[in-house]
Amino acid sequence: MTSSVLTRPEAALRRASPRHYLMCPPTSFDVLYAINPWMHPGAPVDRGRALAQWSALVEAYRAAGHRVDLLDPVEGLPDMVFAANGATVVDGHVLQARFATPQRAAEAASHGAWHAARLGGSGVVTAPVAVNEAEGDFAVLSDRVLAGHGFRTSPDAHAELARLTGREVVSLELVSPVYYHLDVALTVLDDRADHIAYHPAAFSPASRQRLAALFPDAVLATAADAACLGLNAVSDGLHVWLPAGAPHLVGALAAAGYRPVEVDVSELLLGGGGVKCCTQEIRPTRPTTPSGGTPR
Ligand code: ARG
Repeated sequence: MTSSVLTRPEAALRRASPRHYLMCPPTSFDVLYAINPWMHPGAPVDRGRALAQWSALVEAYRAAGHRVDLLDPVEGLPDMVFAANGATVVDGHVLQARFATPQRAAEAASHGAWHAARLGGSGVVTAPVAVNEAEGDFAVLSDRVLAGHGFRTSPDAHAELARLTGREVVSLELVSPVYYHLDVALTVLDDRADHIAYHPAAFSPASRQRLAALFPDAVLATAADAACLGLNAVSDGLHVWLPAGAPHLVGALAAAGYRPVEVDVSELLLGGGGVKCCTQEIRPTRPTTPSGGTPR
């Protein structure tokens, strides 16, 4: 079993690359309103447990050699732990979020200010016109960006990101309220080779066709994989940190040469988020070749 995994050609290709993440401690985490079907206000939330689970995730990234910066939580913004929703950083551009719901609207300014301070005049933070919930609905590949719509991010925001970055943005329609963001229905496993995993039933028939045509070698997640938010994962190209409880997906990732790491995020699931939701990736500017093109 093990040897057959190791002899697969793709297993040798998996390689971790250094990552830079922004995360926000869940010290204000709570479920005070319901803006997705996972949230049940009134159900008890153990904030200490949420903090322990979140801290273990931070430690896991750092132990793998990745940089994790922290955003200050704001009292009264209980969803701020879901930092992936605050901004999209790609090719040296920062597109701030513009939240779909009033409950989270104020988070965007914190993200914008944090990135402005990080850039310190060496770059700009773009305030969006259209509603976008950042990496909740944007999945960045080597050249393209996959973008979800249907519940939160507006298709206009897909065009806005395409204009800002010059990248092709592939619009994908989400159809199941339980999978209200792209990052709970699809995950990028290898952002150099454009290898992804997704749950087909979360997408409209046309988007399913598009995904099948673009990614014939994708890992297909089962309903059970998706139901524990197993696709809400973060990959460095080798390690894939994912919410615990998706044995089929874990097996499929291992067979494809990755090192799946199951993470207990049970308390954060009460807010409708898992590993990826807590993790905003700060991507480096792509180096350009002397001719001005981008190396491939
Ligand atoms: N309660 C949050 C919301 O509904 C959860 C966000 C999860 N984040 C994500 N990237 N999917 O907005």
